[in-house]
Amino acid sequence: MPEPEGSTMNEILRTDGIIRTFHSGRETVHALKSVTIDVEQGKLTLLKGRSGSGKTTLMNLLGALDRPNAGQIWFKDRDIATASEVIRNEMRRKNIGFIFQSVALISMMSAYENVEFGLRVAGIKSKERRQRAEECLALVGLAKRMHHRPQEMSGGEQQRVAIARAIAHRPDIVFADEPTAELDSHMGLQVMRLFKTLVEKEGLTVVITTHDPSMFEIADHAYTLEDGEIVDERKG
Ligand SMILES: Nc1ncnc2c1ncn2[C@@H]1O[C@H](COP(=O)(O)OP(=O)(O)O)[C@@H](O)[C@H]1O
Ligand SMILES: [Mg+2]
Repeated sequence: MPEPEGSTMNEILRTDGIIRTFHSGRETVHALKSVTIDVEQGKLTLLKGRSGSGKTTLMNLLGALDRPNAGQIWFKDRDIATASEVIRNEMRRKNIGFIFQSVALISMMSAYENVEFGLRVAGIKSKERRQRAEECLALVGLAKRMHHRPQEMSGGEQQRVAIARAIAHRPDIVFADEPTAELDSHMGLQVMRLFKTLVEKEGLTVVITTHDPSMFEIADHAYTLEDGEIVDERKG
């Protein structure tokens, strides 16, 4: 397949004029009006903007959870906007990691079991699951707390478990939708620093949505959304 025009070796993900419109009742919401962005491999990209500006809509499209009404989304050399559901499922399972605003851990399982369970879903063999779960929990600074259950941990620790789970199957790209929104500023900063470390030391590619100004400094690349349009782009 030919490379999409304007692409470089460093891009892992690139959109071209994506449009997403919702119909609710008689109302039409133009959530994304023609969004073109690129995400570089091994970098931390931020999607900034006020509530309702289209951040979650864009992230759901980038992560193959939703499809656009028009436009292309290139993941490496494949247009995932039009790919079959079988291929998109496989991508979500193997290539993508997700972290959500409210931490979605299984409360009956310890931190370790939550991460290990994620690896089981990804089809990883048992010996590797164990090694990798321990390694990832150590990476997020929870080696000593891995046998605690979520309710025995702080919000920041729980979000770190969610991060360990999201990266454990070695995805190509990790998406985090307002991962610090429910944390106090101190814990929020710790979680952001962890993302930065994962990008710098582990070579992970991370895309984060936020309206938290304290995050703006640590990004390599930031797009600002307003009313479904990109109004600013910055490389740091
Ligand atoms: N499933 C949906 N149905 C109808 N409208 C939606 C849906 N999802 C998002 N929207 C609308 O699209 C706009 C962008 O929403 P969203 O992407 O969630 O913004 P953000 O994440 O920046 O707060 C908002 O006006 C929102 O109400
Ligand atoms: Mg949102």
